[in-house]
Amino acid sequence: MISTTVGDALQPHAARLRGVELTQLLQQDPQRSQDWAMRSGPLYFNFARQCLDRQALDALLQLASQRELTQAFRRLFDGEQVNVTEGRAALHTALRGNHSHAALAREAFNTASAVRQQMGALVAGLEQSGITDIVSVGIGGSDLGPRLVADALRDPAGNRLRVHFLSNVDGAAAQRVLAPLDPQRTAAVLISKTFSTQETLLNGRILHDWLGGSERLYAVSANPERAAAAFDIAPQRVLPMWDWVGGRYSLWSAVGFPIALAIGFERFEALLAGASDFDAHVINTPLADNIAVRHALTAVWNRNALGHAAHGVMTYDQRLALLPAYLQQLVMESLGKSVQVDGLPVNVDTVPVWWGGAGTDVQHSFFQALHQGTTVVPLDFVGTVRNDDPYAENHLALMSNLLAQSEALANGQRSDDPHRSYPGSRPSTMILLDALTPQSLGGLIAMYEHSVYAQSVIWGINAFDQFGVELGKQLASGLLPALRGQVQADDAVTRTLLAELQARA
Ligand code: F6P
Repeated sequence: MISTTVGDALQPHAARLRGVELTQLLQQDPQRSQDWAMRSGPLYFNFARQCLDRQALDALLQLASQRELTQAFRRLFDGEQVNVTEGRAALHTALRGNHSHAALAREAFNTASAVRQQMGALVAGLEQSGITDIVSVGIGGSDLGPRLVADALRDPAGNRLRVHFLSNVDGAAAQRVLAPLDPQRTAAVLISKTFSTQETLLNGRILHDWLGGSERLYAVSANPERAAAAFDIAPQRVLPMWDWVGGRYSLWSAVGFPIALAIGFERFEALLAGASDFDAHVINTPLADNIAVRHALTAVWNRNALGHAAHGVMTYDQRLALLPAYLQQLVMESLGKSVQVDGLPVNVDTVPVWWGGAGTDVQHSFFQALHQGTTVVPLDFVGTVRNDDPYAENHLALMSNLLAQSEALANGQRSDDPHRSYPGSRPSTMILLDALTPQSLGGLIAMYEHSVYAQSVIWGINAFDQFGVELGKQLASGLLPALRGQVQADDAVTRTLLAELQARA
């Protein structure tokens, strides 16, 4: 079994380092704060405050070599069927650059580039149409990426198309999104890889009726015929995607249409270029100097050697406030698996719970638990060196808090009063973007994608399927007739709950 040796490889080092404080690791190696820093283009990473030493890192790198991680990245970029349970490639890298000589990957790159030009023409058309607002309808991977990037990079002066996002099946969400909008000046983009997702079909119907027909409806799907037919959308307004793009890896495809509408087509292309630059780093850099690999190995160390069951991502740039929500899907839908690629159980823990929020707000809520609680949560701090707002004093304050939090968690502070004592040795990685630009954000997201893939290779699991979400969907569709009183539910507790719902409706 592929994962059995993760524990074997790491346990001796975990035992050796038990009781060793992070401050000791930093004192023993005065160069560590610089040596454990890495850079790729506009992205800087500092891993010095992770609770492992050089020997443990070497063991992790050896594990990565044993797992043939370099070759695994090659397979990903070449378009091999890394999504083995569904017999598919995962060619998100081909959506943003040409990093492979393999025929499949080159073909994917060419196809994606052609569709991007088609999308550019639609963006230009909409920009000149008198339309002021766009409603993007989609959920999960067809929503979170565009929502994050559009929010992070939108024009603060509001001089572009205003893009609104509608995902939840709760009708209150549709009501809230539509209430302030004028149907005459609004268009909608329905995004669904499968075009069979309940939420998107229902919300798409609401938009269709609210707009008074399909004249201002657009769609993005890997099933363009179904999309065109379901809402009577003209084929030239339906953009394709493909089964070789996973939903949560799809913002670089036509799924990014709302991004291009929100920030402009050129900046969308710059986002792709930033991701492609990071792809080049990943595919061309040996394991020991590879940032995504280091990030992944750190995650494996925290999970499997130190047993940490949670991971936090704290953004010190308000424009990245949606990053934790985006990463929750990317990481937990990809790595939330208990069986290996070969179907056998994994013998190590896989994904921890990912969560997070935006500093400094979070410092005044749950950071108390991070500093003094009994559960240690390793963190990624993500900050931006140069701000774009006119409030320089605020930016200095933001940066001082970013630095202070990482330092306080790592070093702690002893006090005779146990209530006022900070244990320290709480690990974090510092991630700094030179500035928040399409390029740096593209690179950052690509880094997380590649880290996720590297973790999946170490754990021997498939990062590209998500069968875990299916059972709930099946049960929900079976319960619709029960809610309408047409059939009885099978489950006794569900029957009681249905009776309560029906009695109080
Ligand atoms: O429910 C999970 C999921 O399949 C995600 O993986 C996907 O991103 C989302 O639903 C939306 O799917 P679709 O794009 O097919 O509507």
